[in-house]
Amino acid sequence: MSTVPPPISDQPVLQLLNVESAYGPIKAIRGVSLQVRRGEIATVLGSNGAGKTTILKTISGIIDPRKGSVEFKGQDITARDPARIVQHGLSHVPEGREVFPLLSVHDNLLMGAYTRADRDGVAKDLATVYGYFPILQERSAQHAGLLSGGQQQMLAISRALMADPDLILLDEPSLGLSPKLTKEIFEIVVRINRERGTTILLVEQNANMALNASDYGYVLENGRIVMHDTCANLREKDDIKEFYLGMKEDGVRGERRWKKKKTWR
Ligand SMILES: Nc1ncnc2c1ncn2[C@@H]1O[C@H](COP(=O)(O)OP(=O)(O)OP(=O)(O)O)[C@@H](O)[C@H]1O
Ligand SMILES: [Mg+2]
Repeated sequence: MSTVPPPISDQPVLQLLNVESAYGPIKAIRGVSLQVRRGEIATVLGSNGAGKTTILKTISGIIDPRKGSVEFKGQDITARDPARIVQHGLSHVPEGREVFPLLSVHDNLLMGAYTRADRDGVAKDLATVYGYFPILQERSAQHAGLLSGGQQQMLAISRALMADPDLILLDEPSLGLSPKLTKEIFEIVVRINRERGTTILLVEQNANMALNASDYGYVLENGRIVMHDTCANLREKDDIKEFYLGMKEDGVRGERRWKKKKTWR
């Protein structure tokens, strides 16, 4: 299938053009183009192995793409050193959280702010993240490795916020969490976006949560973007309902109609 062109936006904060990334001989993403506008929550939906994590790693400089370009706030950051990309205002919350298990919760948060010199701003942001996730304040002196999976996800998001980024990349925040905790985390993600104006690019298998929380969505299959639209429109598309939201319509004879093949439209 040919690549779907990106939407036209006058002010993208992030723009990928024809990005191709591979692990040795395995092409994980094949010509991905997408845009994230300032102040929005954008999402990339896709099933296991679609290439979601690879997209985020390529943006944050962990993987260098074979082809294509990544532009952030008007600058080409393709294959730039990850530490410099963080300094430029982009924070990545990786899949599986990756908190520092032997550091306290408090020190994990301060690690997130290591590039900042504004002590007052850091203190203010610390109070803000403790406000979002009061449990982290209760556990602030404890080793982060002792937190539950959900609490570690809260810590990973909070640590990203401590860098005071313009853009946060969130890799499957729902992974391994109960529906209730997933809902709580998504509510905070939306609050962060609304209250701080932080732009967010979120990749998820949980299409239901992601489509409800986000403004604009891309559907990724086998390393290619096969569809993109506003989330309001995506939620109404039959293919999305059927394959990602698990709703299947009754067929004309009152039997369930199972599509044999995906037909994107
Ligand atoms: N380190 C690696 N070495 C080799 N192949 C890899 C590596 N990481 C990912 N891949 C392959 O690249 C493709 C895309 O993987 P990626 O992790 O980006 O998918 P994903 O959409 O994040 O999946 P998931 O929902 O399971 O996290 C898959 O085919 C995967 O097997
Ligand atoms: Mg992944």
